[in-house]
Amino acid sequence: MVTLEAFQINGPARPRGNVAISGAKNAALPALAASLLTAETISLGNVPDVYDIRTFARLLRGMGAEVQLEAPRCSLTASNLNNPEAPYDLVRTMRASILVLCPLVARCGRARVSLPGGCAIGVRPVDMHLEGLELMGARIKVEHGYILAETDGLKPIDYTFRLKTVTGTENLMMAAALIDGETRLANCAEEPEVIFMAEMLRTMGAEVQGDGTDNIMIHGKSRLSGGSFSIIPDRIEAGTYLFLAAALPDSEVTLTGIETDHLGAVIQKLSRIGADIETKDEGVRINGHRNLAAQHMDTAPYPGFPTDLQAQYMALMTQASGTSVIHESIFENRFQHVAELSRMGADIKLSGAQATVIGPSRLSGANVTASDLRASASLVIAGLAAEGTTVVRRIYHLDRGYSSMEQKLQALGCDVTRIKVDHA
Ligand code: EPZ
Repeated sequence: MVTLEAFQINGPARPRGNVAISGAKNAALPALAASLLTAETISLGNVPDVYDIRTFARLLRGMGAEVQLEAPRCSLTASNLNNPEAPYDLVRTMRASILVLCPLVARCGRARVSLPGGCAIGVRPVDMHLEGLELMGARIKVEHGYILAETDGLKPIDYTFRLKTVTGTENLMMAAALIDGETRLANCAEEPEVIFMAEMLRTMGAEVQGDGTDNIMIHGKSRLSGGSFSIIPDRIEAGTYLFLAAALPDSEVTLTGIETDHLGAVIQKLSRIGADIETKDEGVRINGHRNLAAQHMDTAPYPGFPTDLQAQYMALMTQASGTSVIHESIFENRFQHVAELSRMGADIKLSGAQATVIGPSRLSGANVTASDLRASASLVIAGLAAEGTTVVRRIYHLDRGYSSMEQKLQALGCDVTRIKVDHA
């Protein structure tokens, strides 16, 4: 018998008040990786207090980097990298570890990084990371579950990504930042987190152009400097709280510390379904109401609707009137939350990459189990909307990417407590 943590939620909730959105996990993780590119100190602010950041800090310390992490501050000095390795036991819990591969090869000439392997939402290959790095002049072998890469010196390349890949773009940008010559990357990811990475590399001394478009040019230097950076707000955490507030008829919630420019597709979708949403100087105010209209949704690379908000949007659509067809185009298995939402009374039919939601459903509290980071957020939203008590098990998934969620919800007046449950 093992004891794991769960959220116990009594619904329906009536969230009132402000939520301060934290720094973006998916900008902070690449920023920690970028500290490997220089012997000077990188100082970060607005770092979210989430489990993945602590795991990444352990990973970097294992390589010989000095890391002081007291969220929201983090200071990193990778002056003595004596062990350019990312071991399986850390990588298997956090796929983003692949982000150390290119910085290590560019800085140390070699790296031994465990293959990330898949996760609940898909196989998650890293073929484009390896293909680009090999083109730059790394000799790469994959054996016993590890990527072994070494080089006598990387060279600039022209490379077109087969698919848009966020960490693939970030990984090759970091390698290129230490190459004196022009690297041109095409079909790049355009996410705000990629732009943040470009801004970091520019401050560190590389020339970077085109970030935010699908063509990025990087002219690197053999030595990069350190710098101080503030992590951009987490657009996925913000979207999660926006959908949570929209799904609960009696909400009156204001999100502060967010960047509304990063939420275009999300705010447009909320307006289309009829949510009562207003963008103000200090943030975004959203009130719940009863007549939300179902709207179809397709996930897409930025600036399209983010796949990381698909599960949360689905929970919202269970409370909207009508039929919404949700198409998940990025990952092949990102519907693990459907079975759990259905156990709470949602009416959802699955067909391949498409989920059809018929609403509104009166959800009832139930024991449910989280399968991955964003699915767990979806179950929390459903638990807050449901009549009665919901226990969301395995919330270690949630703790990877949401800081202080129960505290933020309690401050809004929601009845959410962290409990321990025995798991057979
Ligand atoms: C990033 O993952 C995010 N993680 C994910 O957030 C997010 O879901 C994803 O981008 C898509 O937006 C971080 O930034 C740390 P991809 P990443 O490479 O970079 C395929 C969360 O919840 N692909 O953009 O791993 C891949 O299988 C996490 O915070 C290849 O085939 O995703 C997928 O179908 C979950 N070969 C598509 O591309 C490759 O070499 C997009 O993946 C790389 C990717």
